[in-house]
Amino acid sequence: MQERIKKIQADFESEITKVGNPAELEQVRIKFLSRKGLVPQLFEDFKQLPSDEKPKYGKTLNILKNSIQSKFDQIKQKIDNKAESDVNLVDLSLPGRRAHLGSMHILMQTMYEIRDIFKSLGFSVYEGPELESDYNNFEALNFPEDHPARDMQDTFFINENFLLRTHTSPVQVRLMQNKKPPLRAIMPGKVYRNEAISAKSYCLFHQVEGLYVDNDVTFAELKGTLVAFAKQFFGEEIKYRFRPSFFPFTEPSAEVDIWWEPKGKEGRWMEILGCGMVDPNVLENVGIDPEKYTGYAFGMGVERIAMRKYGIDDIRTFFDNDKRFLIQF
Ligand code: DAH
Repeated sequence: MQERIKKIQADFESEITKVGNPAELEQVRIKFLSRKGLVPQLFEDFKQLPSDEKPKYGKTLNILKNSIQSKFDQIKQKIDNKAESDVNLVDLSLPGRRAHLGSMHILMQTMYEIRDIFKSLGFSVYEGPELESDYNNFEALNFPEDHPARDMQDTFFINENFLLRTHTSPVQVRLMQNKKPPLRAIMPGKVYRNEAISAKSYCLFHQVEGLYVDNDVTFAELKGTLVAFAKQFFGEEIKYRFRPSFFPFTEPSAEVDIWWEPKGKEGRWMEILGCGMVDPNVLENVGIDPEKYTGYAFGMGVERIAMRKYGIDDIRTFFDNDKRFLIQF
């Protein structure tokens, strides 16, 4: 009996130290500790011993069983921990992942580019609020109340007298109310329209307004300025056209289209801005004498300009905040 106990103890020690994974551990458990294993077998055989020998081995057997069990538990714990840390193992041989620095949104970059070009042409920058009065957004710009021209711009009204500006043109009104001619400024900002959202239109977009009021300002100067802008922004070869149009606050009025041929698609004209000679009624509304002064004005859509320049075909992508889109610029 004594010999068997010693052998089992020695075998267990040598086998448990070689265990390296849960499967090997299970083999050891089956061999020594399972119901038919070597240790329970010893206890079975112990029962057959003559009663005078029992006290001699009883204690030794218990010590053996406890020491084997506790050694087994200790190794099991080690193996379990190892399996867990394997899952979290960091592979130090993997190539590094580049951290992306944030950058200015492509619309803001475009606004700055537009601004820089007009600054170089002698324009200053003026800003107005996005929450605007009905008066500045419509009335002062020669949209009479209930005039159908108001339907051109579906409006988010806040209450009867206030709204989210539908264009940057009310900033012209503010500028002319606050400063005396000569005036030459651009007015960038956000505008809002209650329109069905699609690839072509969104409830929010950006415009850059322009205004020049002085003695003897002519349509030819307006044309010259806008062509100079288009060539600087899009390149000398840009194809453009001026087309007669209507706005309540300009007379005569025009729109400028530029030619767009998206890759693999048929080319077409794309409207990028409205413009014209400031209507004498508007000058009168802000207290400028239309006999003494004339002016031109224009308002361009920043999204459309950016779409044309960067080949973007869905206006919604500007506002989705999808990093895969933003990262390209
Ligand atoms: N405010 C017009 C719009 O949003 C654009 C516009 C047209 C602005 C003619 C102007 C202008 O200053 O003269 O559709």
